[in-house]
Amino acid sequence: MVRHMLVNLLLLWSLGHDLYTTGFGDDGLKGQSWSNQNLYSIPLDLDVRLQKLDLSNNFIRQLHTIDLLYLEQLDLSSNQLELISKGAFENLALLEELNLSVNALNNNLERNSKSLQSLGRLKSLDISMNSLGDEAVKLYLLNKSSLEKLKMTGNYLTTLTHKLFKESQDLRSITIDDNLISTIDGGTFEPLRKLESLSLAKNNLGHICDFKLPQVKCLNLSRNSIQFFVSAADNQVYNLEILDLSHNKLLYFPIVPKFNQLKYLYLHHNMVGTLTLEASMVSEVNSLYNDIVRKGNVRITKNYLHSNWRLMPLIYIDLSYNHFTSFPLETLSLLLNLEELNFSFNCVQNLTWNVRHDSESGHYRQLYFPSLKYLNMQSNGLASVSPLFLQALTQVETINLQDNSVKPCAPVSQMQSSISPQLNLNSSCVAFGKLRTLKYLNLEDNGIKILHANTFQKTSLISLNLARNVHMVMQVGALEGVQETLQSLMMGEVNMNSSDLLLPCLPALTHLNISNNYLTVLPSNLTCSPLRELSIKNNSFLSLNQSLIKALSTHLHAMYISGNDFNCCDAQWLKILNESRIKLPDISQSTCFTGNTRIQFDEFLTNSSLYCSTHKKGIHSGQIIIVVLFVVILITVLIMFARKLCCTNKSLVV
Ligand SMILES: *[C@@H]1O[C@H](CO)[C@@H](O)[C@H](O)[C@H]1NC(C)=O
Ligand SMILES: *[C@@H]1O[C@H](CO)[C@@H](O)[C@H](O)[C@H]1NC(C)=O
Ligand SMILES: *[C@@H]1O[C@H](CO)[C@@H](O)[C@H](O)[C@H]1NC(C)=O
Ligand SMILES: *[C@@H]1O[C@H](CO)[C@@H](O)[C@H](O)[C@H]1NC(C)=O
Ligand SMILES: *[C@@H]1O[C@H](CO)[C@@H](O)[C@H](O)[C@H]1NC(C)=O
Ligand SMILES: *[C@@H]1O[C@H](CO)[C@@H](O)[C@H](O)[C@H]1NC(C)=O
Ligand SMILES: *[C@@H]1O[C@H](CO)[C@@H](O)[C@H](O)[C@H]1NC(C)=O
Ligand SMILES: *[C@@H]1O[C@H](CO)[C@@H](O)[C@H](O)[C@H]1NC(C)=O
Repeated sequence: MVRHMLVNLLLLWSLGHDLYTTGFGDDGLKGQSWSNQNLYSIPLDLDVRLQKLDLSNNFIRQLHTIDLLYLEQLDLSSNQLELISKGAFENLALLEELNLSVNALNNNLERNSKSLQSLGRLKSLDISMNSLGDEAVKLYLLNKSSLEKLKMTGNYLTTLTHKLFKESQDLRSITIDDNLISTIDGGTFEPLRKLESLSLAKNNLGHICDFKLPQVKCLNLSRNSIQFFVSAADNQVYNLEILDLSHNKLLYFPIVPKFNQLKYLYLHHNMVGTLTLEASMVSEVNSLYNDIVRKGNVRITKNYLHSNWRLMPLIYIDLSYNHFTSFPLETLSLLLNLEELNFSFNCVQNLTWNVRHDSESGHYRQLYFPSLKYLNMQSNGLASVSPLFLQALTQVETINLQDNSVKPCAPVSQMQSSISPQLNLNSSCVAFGKLRTLKYLNLEDNGIKILHANTFQKTSLISLNLARNVHMVMQVGALEGVQETLQSLMMGEVNMNSSDLLLPCLPALTHLNISNNYLTVLPSNLTCSPLRELSIKNNSFLSLNQSLIKALSTHLHAMYISGNDFNCCDAQWLKILNESRIKLPDISQSTCFTGNTRIQFDEFLTNSSLYCSTHKKGIHSGQIIIVVLFVVILITVLIMFARKLCCTNKSLVV
């Protein structure tokens, strides 16, 4: 009787749970989610036909035999699993994916590893964050010959040996991030012929002396303490496409395999370029290569670094946050496919043309960056740029020069250029007009004092950022030549007042930021522009020209207006914006004043009649009308009353 009741109760309970779990990605019999259900054990009444089971984020400590013959995926992550009894997995003959991350599998090693050994068909195993050391991992990986994907992030591994993956030769992806690995024995990964993705980020590796894993496509060594990376000297074709060496202690460029497929190279946050010129760095890294790979036997005359880089099909390189004091022109110009270069946050103050001369002519050798489209030089302290460098950028579309000391040149007059037709060799300013393909230019915060007329003529500028050049004077005609193409103009924090802002007619302009200045009047030429976004934040506007706002409102999408001294009772423009449903993202921070009081613009919009009652025009005539009406009515009533009185008097008499 009691048993019967119990079974019924359990059934009810499980029905309740079934209903409850429906919303959690339950797709019928195939999969069920019991994630986050405060479970202390596996529910007893699971359908035997289940293929997927999610038990993550519960409080399960022990596992006993699971009878789910068809189960393919089991997620037990984020429990408190410490004991897996001997036959627990015995009946899971079809199980392919097992997630045991964030548990306590450092306990009961012998027993747990025996149970795991029965899962010989497993393809994917995640044992991250279980406080496992080298020995524990070795035990857990026994009898895993089908394993393709293995994740062991956040454990305590220190040494990887050739025994570790001996039984798992099919591995394609290995992630052992965030451990304490400082040693990798030769032969650990080499036999894994199918290995494509290897991630050893956040470990203690000090150097890679002899990289020889031609099968690997993606190698992540980010956040170690790597000082140099040297590949084996062989003529094999390497599949390597992505190499992440960011956040290390690299002193030199890596020596990549001779024949590789490298497209993305991440070297940001290292120490490359420290206190040396390019030429000495190149010879240092070559002698290192000779010491390590050639064992110092042969005297080097060959430039291995360059001969291997020359064959690299790289399209992206991130060299930001390194210690370059000079620009590595020769090395980078070898990368004929390079499209994107991030060189921000280095210390190249003078970009000089430090290129070895042509031995015969003694002339400067012109190199090119024939595919470079995107160049980021932000925050280098850059003051001078060799004109030969500008000439090398034949395809550049985007240049970010924010936070440097670059001065745009005055265009060379016809006369001067006819005197020296070859080059303006003045490198203390940058002649942007040479960059015909340039579309996006960021000159924010460069201490620019004067922007000459025709500065950008002959470029294809779409976007120009001149913000935070606090002493900048813009000559009339500064935007000459790019009026038809310019779509975005940033001129915030330039200390301009309205007479300084002389904009020509810009028929393509859709974005304008003139925030943080001292403007009182909008340039009337704005009617030329199909503006979609306008920021006039933090200026000195009292009101805005109604007819101008009316004209802009046909295209305007969003307008930023806070931080001005708007007069509430001269705010017809705001009503126009409001009625045209233009977004005013900072309206809640915006105020206006009437008399001596400041009020929120939202508040004013809802009750505008309340606040401007002292306004003369409208109210005055209204008052007159009311008074006149009142007088007229009063007189009419009086006359009527008098007549009536007369009549009744008459009749009385009669
Ligand atoms: C295992 O589960 C954790 C936590 O839910 C998740 O972050 C991780 O991606 C899963 N592992 C695999 C291999 O899917
Ligand atoms: C290894 O896995 C296979 C296939 O699943 C299984 O038959 C065998 O019993 C396992 N070996 C051990 C020692 O558990
Ligand atoms: C390498 O790993 C780090 C840390 O896990 C990660 O942030 C980074 O995105 C990875 N790099 C690549 C190229 O996937
Ligand atoms: C370098 O610039 C690229 C844009 O091309 C960006 O995606 C990347 O995040 C930047 N690198 C760093 C470390 O900020
Ligand atoms: C860069 O050039 C300027 C002027 O030519 C010079 O004063 C400065 O010392 C140079 N800076 C470096 C780091 O070479
Ligand atoms: C070089 O450019 C700077 C900045 O525009 C200017 O002051 C200087 O006179 C120019 N020098 C020559 C020789 O043209
Ligand atoms: C406008 O420029 C200012 C100052 O340069 C900046 O802080 C702000 O984010 C910009 N606003 C928009 C909407 O781009
Ligand atoms: C307002 O803008 C229109 C159109 O740009 C212009 O013609 C007019 O002169 C402006 N009015 C004032 C008072 O500035």
